[in-house]
Amino acid sequence: MHEIEPLGFDFRLRTRELASSVHRSKLKTLAFILLLTGAMGALGALSPYAQQKRSTWDGVYTSEQEARGRAQYAESCASCHGPELETESYIPLIVGPAYIANWDGLPLATFFDRVRGMPVDKELTRQQNADVVAFLLARNGFPAGRTELKGQQDELNEITFRATRPGN
Ligand code: HEC
Repeated sequence: MHEIEPLGFDFRLRTRELASSVHRSKLKTLAFILLLTGAMGALGALSPYAQQKRSTWDGVYTSEQEARGRAQYAESCASCHGPELETESYIPLIVGPAYIANWDGLPLATFFDRVRGMPVDKELTRQQNADVVAFLLARNGFPAGRTELKGQQDELNEITFRATRPGN
C-alpha cells in the first residue's frame, strides 16, 4: 500500500507535464498556421493571377437568359423605350457608348436597381429583372458567358460595370 503512493504521484506529475507539452505544441501549430495563411494572403494579393473583381466583360449572363430578357423587354419596356431601343424623344437612350459611359465603375447593382425602379405594368421578379439586364448588356456589346446573372444582391455588388473592354 505504502509503496504505491509515490508511483501514483509520479504518474500524475508526468501526465501534467505531458499535457502542458501537448498544449505548447498545439500553440506552435496554431502560430504556424496563422503565419502560413498570412503569407498566403500576402502572396495572393501580390500575384498577378489573384482573383480580380469580375466586370461586365467577364460573361456575367448567358445567351438563353438574353433571349428571355428580350421577350421581357418587349412586354415591359418597349412601350416607352421603343421595340429596338431607338427612342430618342423624351426617354434617354439606354444603348450605345455614350450611354454606358454613365455607368462606368459602378457596381452592376446600381444599374439593376435603376431598371427595377422603372414604371412597368406588372412588377418584375428579381429573376425577370436580371433577364432584362442581361438583354441590355448584350445590346450594349457585353459578351455572354456560361453562368446566368441571378440578380442576387451580393453577386450584383461584386460585378463592376466597365464601359470599355479591359486592355482597350
Ligand atoms: C412608362 C414608361 C416606361 C417604362 C414602361 C419603362 N421605362 Fe425606363 N425610363 C422611362 C423614363 C421616362 C426614363 C427617364 C426618366 C427616369 O430616369 O426615370 C427611363 C429611364 C430608364 C433608364 C435609365 C436611363 C438613365 O438615366 O441612365 C433605364 C436603364 C431604363 N429606363 C430601362 C427600362 C427598362 C429595362 C424597362 C423595362 C423593364 C423600362 N425602362 C420601362 C420610362 C419608362
